[in-house]
Amino acid sequence: MPKKTIAQVDVSAQRVLIRVDFNVPLDGGKVADDTRLTAALPTIRSVIDRGGRAVLMSHLGRPEGKGYEEQLSLRPVAKRLGELLGQEVAFPSNDCIDDEAAAGVQALGDGQCLLLENLRFHKGEKRGDAEFAAKLASYGEIYCNDAFGTCHRADASMVAVPRTMAAKPRVIGFLVEREIKFLAEAITSPAKPFCVVLGGAKVSDKLPAIGNLLPKADSILIGGAMAYTFMKALGQEVGDSRVEADRLDEAKAILEDAARLRTDLHLPHDHICSTTFSETSGDIEVFEDSIKPGYMGLDIGPKTQTKFAQEILKSKTIVWNGPMGVFEWRPFRMGTKSVANAIADATAKGAVSIVGGGDSAAAAERFEVANKLTHVSTGGGASLAMLEGQTFEAVELIDDA
Ligand code: 3PG
Repeated sequence: MPKKTIAQVDVSAQRVLIRVDFNVPLDGGKVADDTRLTAALPTIRSVIDRGGRAVLMSHLGRPEGKGYEEQLSLRPVAKRLGELLGQEVAFPSNDCIDDEAAAGVQALGDGQCLLLENLRFHKGEKRGDAEFAAKLASYGEIYCNDAFGTCHRADASMVAVPRTMAAKPRVIGFLVEREIKFLAEAITSPAKPFCVVLGGAKVSDKLPAIGNLLPKADSILIGGAMAYTFMKALGQEVGDSRVEADRLDEAKAILEDAARLRTDLHLPHDHICSTTFSETSGDIEVFEDSIKPGYMGLDIGPKTQTKFAQEILKSKTIVWNGPMGVFEWRPFRMGTKSVANAIADATAKGAVSIVGGGDSAAAAERFEVANKLTHVSTGGGASLAMLEGQTFEAVELIDDA
């Protein structure tokens, strides 16, 4: 059932309590990457341009609810957001629910914007505490969830607050609307052939997503360190590569399911390996199939790069989550770069391409293809949860359209 969006409510002279995901990297007291701020602008602008009062709330990092910590304050984020919006963003207090914060919210005029301090300075946020949620809920006449990156969490601001505001309008913002549209459509009704590219270090993180996507995908390409657990499950030599021994049975079961469902599951055939986990030291060698003892795989090899690119280029829907190797290091970046380029080329030929947040979004930026893809998600954990087939309570609670 589609959800009501911010465009469908009259916000004039109303306080709109907007949960955003401003969990962004800071460096030297400044926002180092403002992608998540930029992604929230359409919703914020829609409220203030129509004479609404935007009360923004977010978490930053993972403080343990022990009160204010300067290095995790959202104050620098308010400053950067003000620059992006071209108007002041008030930041009334170092505590999101004290009297000063409440007074700041009360003083907000039509068309103005305010950001509350890091919600996770209070234990009640992670615990989903009702009393904490009631205080936040009192700040708005309308609730809006535009925090896609946090939609898989049951934090108070995501679940208990909209529950408390059941008698008021509860909507999603444009970012959540767009993210869910692209990811849900790719998973439920992809244009065929549907190719899923998975990588990253930990196979345990990706097994639920593979299980969910196996019956839907035409091909699944597996790279990154997670591939070595699959290779080991097939009895191949992987040298000193990272293997999750407690996941070998699950990996084997996935390989059997892929064969039964006739989904082409591709593992790397050659590997760029090194004797040390380092950018600059160690002997680098390319191995085909078996990796010699003393060497660890750190990227997919040239033959695999070509094979993966061919698979990607014949697909009409491509979902990518996780790098093919240690792309931050020059000797091991080509696998991820070639996948990124192939997805951009496939998109130029008419395919729909969706990239999960986190490392793959960072890789897409680094290899300058982000603006050549259909959709780059702002949520790493949240987009992976969607690939696993999870539904989000934080979205289900929102009013139906
Ligand atoms: C993220 O960056 O993935 C989201 O902001 C969620 O953060 P969390 O994993 O700390 O809940």
